[in-house]
Amino acid sequence: MAGLQVAVVGATGAVGREVLRLLTERRFPAMAVRAVASPRSAGQRVDGLPVEALAPHVFDAVDIAIFDTPDEVALEWVPVATERGALVIDNSAAFRMAEQVPLLIPEVNRHALYTRSRIIANPNCTIATITVPLGPLHREAGLRRVIACSYQSVSGAGQRGIEQLWAETREVAASGGAPSGAGGGAFRQPIAMNVIPAVGSFRGGHTSEEVKMGAELRKMLEAPQVLVGVTCVRVPTLRAHGVAVHAEFDRPLSPAVARDLLRRAAGVEVVDEPERGLYPTPLGAMGRHPCYVGRIRTDEAGLLAFFAVADNLLKGAALNAVQIAEAVVEDGVLIASRA
Ligand SMILES: NC(=O)c1ccc[n+]([C@@H]2O[C@H](COP(=O)([O-])OP(=O)(O)OC[C@H]3O[C@@H](n4cnc5c(N)ncnc54)[C@H](OP(=O)(O)O)[C@@H]3O)[C@@H](O)[C@H]2O)c1
Repeated sequence: MAGLQVAVVGATGAVGREVLRLLTERRFPAMAVRAVASPRSAGQRVDGLPVEALAPHVFDAVDIAIFDTPDEVALEWVPVATERGALVIDNSAAFRMAEQVPLLIPEVNRHALYTRSRIIANPNCTIATITVPLGPLHREAGLRRVIACSYQSVSGAGQRGIEQLWAETREVAASGGAPSGAGGGAFRQPIAMNVIPAVGSFRGGHTSEEVKMGAELRKMLEAPQVLVGVTCVRVPTLRAHGVAVHAEFDRPLSPAVARDLLRRAAGVEVVDEPERGLYPTPLGAMGRHPCYVGRIRTDEAGLLAFFAVADNLLKGAALNAVQIAEAVVEDGVLIASRA
């Protein structure tokens, strides 16, 4: 299908900018792309496109709208876009757990696309990082339980997160000491030379990010019985989230079999030669598409352990959204869901 009209809402943000770039780089069959953001950005240019202020008319004649906005903006405006006839791919958390809305990673649960839903949700970036490798392992051995710790980059908090790390980094480089305080509004404490064991807002001792991890993994793997224990931690890296995973399965799964499955899995690249200093790192994953997996081993508790890293702005957000749009076009879902 050629000549689609696409709107990118949140086009000036950390994710939206990557979506615009990927639509061009991957030659998405779009006749026209509209860049939409808040009235604050109207009139600016992003990726060569004029930015339009979000309003109902920006969805006129739009086939696919990719939303990269805060949850509250998506909650209000996604229904406006669907009412005007657009199919929405939403990067926010607003609709992920809605029963009728598919939560999709094409390599893991592409079949979930076959729905009449006019909204398709993109998963949280941290859970995407481990769902890509856990998907094939679950199909082989039946996932029972996951214990995980995340090492999340500042760009997970959007442009403000990136700006705060740079501001504090410049300060510590100039002073030669620790940051004097938070150098921006993204994190309550300094993030340069620090780690912050809190990502999202607190809900009864857990953070919203930690709650999302279990719920979204269960939905994507269609495995309601899987239990997830996780601590999410912000670290002073720019891009790409790392996650240390310890997973228990119903059936035995040796590191050798897991490594072999992961080598053959779509979207995964195994980097696992620790004796040569080769393992996944955020710098190694930055700007790249695969989910990298290494340190594959059985831990002392008998669980399969590995370290996964993926670029949160790409596989964790923009790339996955564009891959969903590609799948929508390839599988004729756009036409089917309109009928
Ligand atoms: N960053 C990640 O790694 C990541 C990963 C997965 C999912 N997500 C989700 O993706 C969404 C975007 O995240 P981000 O990191 O790109 O955030 P961001 O850098 O803060 O960008 C937010 C975007 O939303 C726009 N926006 C804000 N308020 C708006 C309003 N009232 N009307 C219209 N547009 C508005 C902003 O436009 P202005 O520039 O005009 O303010 C900007 O384009 C969020 O829901 C986030 O949770 C992010």
